[in-house]
Amino acid sequence: MESLVIKPSGPLRGQIRLPGDKSISHRAVIFASLTPGTTVIRNLLESEDVLRTVRIFEELGVFLRCLKSGDWIVKGKRSEELRAPRKILYCGNSGTTMRLMMGVLAALPFRSILTGDRSLNRRPMERVIEPLRRMGAKFHPFFIEGERHIEVVGGDLKGIHYNLPVPSAQVKSAILLAGRTAGVKVTVKEKIKTRDHTERMNRFFKRSPGRRCLIIPGDPSSAAFFTVAALINPDRFTRLMIKKVCLNPTRTGFLTVLKKMGAEIRIDHEKYLCGEPVADLVVTPCRLRATHVGGKIVPSLIDEVPILAVAAACAEGKSSFRDMKELRIKETDRIEALIHELPKFGIPMTEYKEGFRIEGEGRLYGAKGDSLGDHRVAMSLAILGTVAPGRTRVNDTDCIKTSLPEFFSLMKSIGVSIKLTS
Ligand code: S3P
Repeated sequence: MESLVIKPSGPLRGQIRLPGDKSISHRAVIFASLTPGTTVIRNLLESEDVLRTVRIFEELGVFLRCLKSGDWIVKGKRSEELRAPRKILYCGNSGTTMRLMMGVLAALPFRSILTGDRSLNRRPMERVIEPLRRMGAKFHPFFIEGERHIEVVGGDLKGIHYNLPVPSAQVKSAILLAGRTAGVKVTVKEKIKTRDHTERMNRFFKRSPGRRCLIIPGDPSSAAFFTVAALINPDRFTRLMIKKVCLNPTRTGFLTVLKKMGAEIRIDHEKYLCGEPVADLVVTPCRLRATHVGGKIVPSLIDEVPILAVAAACAEGKSSFRDMKELRIKETDRIEALIHELPKFGIPMTEYKEGFRIEGEGRLYGAKGDSLGDHRVAMSLAILGTVAPGRTRVNDTDCIKTSLPEFFSLMKSIGVSIKLTS
C-alpha cells in the first residue's frame, strides 16, 4: 500500500496543465464508441476510472487505441454492431462507469453483467435501475461471495419523461444515454441543475459527423486541489497558473465559494473547447474568511467538498457545509471521513446529518491521516500537509490513480516537499 509524506513547503510556483476532466473523458469514450466514424480524443484522462469505461467498450467490440499519452483514436459503431460481452464487465471504483453503462446496456439487445470493487458494490444503483426499468430494461442484482453483480437484459426500450428525485448527473446521463442508444425520446427534469456534459457532448456529436477531434478540457475537480494549495500557502512568492481548466458553470461552485471566502483568482484566456468553456486560472495566496455552503450551489461543488473543508480549516472563523447528504454515498461516506480525519490535524469539527461545521485557524499540526480508500480524501489531506507544521503522512494513497495518476509529479513540479513510500 502506498503512502505520501508531505512537509510544509513554499513558495509553490509554476504553470501546470491538468489531464482531461474525468466526467467529460468518460462521456467522450462513450459517445465516440457509439457514433459510427472515427474520433480522435486529445487530453483524455488516462486514470483507472476512465480506463474501466474504455475496457468495457473494447469488450463490446469497439476499436479504441492510445496513440500517445492522452491521445486516443476510437472507431465507433452503430448499436446494432456491438457484440454481447463474453465476460463480466468490471467497473472497479468508478460509479460513473457503472451508472452510465447501465444506461447504454439497457438499450442493447443482450445480457451483460456489471460489478465493481467493494466500495462501488455498496453504492446505491436503484436510482438508475428504477427509471431504466420503467423504460423496459430488466435488471437482476445478485451476489457472488458477498459482492454485488448486476445483470442487465436490454433492448426494446420505450421513451420516458422523468423527474429526477435526486440531483444526480449520473442518473440523468444514464437515462439520456439509454434514450440516445435506443433511438427513443426521453426528457429528464431536474429541480437543481447538475453537470450537463452529456447534453453538451450530444450537441457536439450532432454537429460533427464523420471524422471528429475532441479536446478534453482540464479537470476542474483536480484544479481545485492546486488552487487551494496556492491560496493557503503562506509564502508571498507563491503563484500558480493552471492552464485550460473546464469552467462549465455546473462545475465551478468551488470557485464561487473560494471567492466568497476572499480568494483572488484571476481567470485568463477564456475560450470554448468542444462545447465547454475553458480558461487559465492564476492563483496567489490570501487570507481566507469562513463561509456557509449549502442550497442550490451544492451539486456544482459536490466533489470539491473535501478540499473546500481544507480551505475552511485554514480560514478565519467557523464555516458550515449543509445540504450534502449525497456526500454520504460517494466513494466513501465523505462526511464521516472528514469528521474522522481532520481532527487528527488539530481541526475541530461537528458532524451534521447532511454536512458539518469546521473551525478555522485552530492549532494546525502535521499528522498521520488515512484516505479510507477515497482519492479525494487522500489528495485533500496531502494539500493540508503542505501547510500543517511538522510532517504529514497520508496512508492508502493508491486510490489517487482512479482520478489523477499525475498528482504526485504535479505536486513535486510546483515545489511541494512530497515523498512516496510503501
Ligand atoms: C459525475 C456526477 C457526480 C459526481 C461524480 C461524477 C458524473 O455524481 O459526484 O464524481 O460524471 O456524472 P452524482 O451523479 O452521483 O451526483
